[in-house]
Amino acid sequence: MNNNIAIFYPDKTLVHIADKISLKYALDITGSKHRYPFLLVIDWLETIPGYKLSLLDQSKPGIKPVSIDFNTPQTQYRTKFGGGLKQGLAKAIGVTGKPGLAVLDMTAGLGRDAFILASLGCKVTMLEINGALAAILENALERGAQQTSIAETISNLKLVHIDSCEYLQKKTDIASFSVIYIDPMYPQRHKSAKVKKDLALLQRYLANTQQPGVSELLQSACGQSIKRIVLKRPVTAKIVGNPVGCVESKTTRFDIYHG
Ligand SMILES: C[S@@+](CC[C@H](N)C(=O)[O-])C[C@H]1O[C@@H](n2cnc3c(N)ncnc32)[C@H](O)[C@@H]1O
Repeated sequence: MNNNIAIFYPDKTLVHIADKISLKYALDITGSKHRYPFLLVIDWLETIPGYKLSLLDQSKPGIKPVSIDFNTPQTQYRTKFGGGLKQGLAKAIGVTGKPGLAVLDMTAGLGRDAFILASLGCKVTMLEINGALAAILENALERGAQQTSIAETISNLKLVHIDSCEYLQKKTDIASFSVIYIDPMYPQRHKSAKVKKDLALLQRYLANTQQPGVSELLQSACGQSIKRIVLKRPVTAKIVGNPVGCVESKTTRFDIYHG
């Protein structure tokens, strides 16, 4: 069990959902909010049937909890006007507009990059090591699948809760992917004032969890016979290993490697 977080449900009618998530993702359930620094909060949805999960940092009462919604006006705007195939992420991955490019996302997180790639027609398998984040992402995918405007994009996404290094060691069908994508949590990048509050919260939550570092993730990926591996980094970060190419924007660098 991860002991810096527990599931909290404000309403007794949510107990069966709490039990299901606790079993699947090995998370504690608490009735006493203050025993844990972070809470995975379950709430009924107000407008449609179903529930929503969010991550709450109890040390920052003024900060809104983080949840995932793939159907917000911001996401719709990003999908429509984010640059399409010309944006750095798409260029680095090598998206051409032909549907079906198989991408393995080793660091799913809030699923934002994966959703952009899926909206451009990629089939993305997202791997997430952290149980609470995997639960939040799974919940967002379930809700998204019921929303007509994004259901097709959601159908391009698959989630597996696993350490991606372990996945790469165990799976025999890695060659079915054309690209491996890695976006590791980078401690320094979220210290600036410009940092989005939800990413800062994610960073605080993950700070005390054990996760493989950038080099380990990259090494695992480069050990596969995959033509293209893309590592997302802050633009000022030190280069790791020997990239064969790079797509750079104002704040982000996508380093490209061969497997
Ligand atoms: C910076 S976030 C990724 C953000 C994501 N690209 C997005 O667009 O929302 C990094 C995520 O990778 C996950 N992670 C780190 N190491 C991992 C591993 N070995 N296997 C699977 N997930 C991992 C972390 O738990 C965290 O959720």
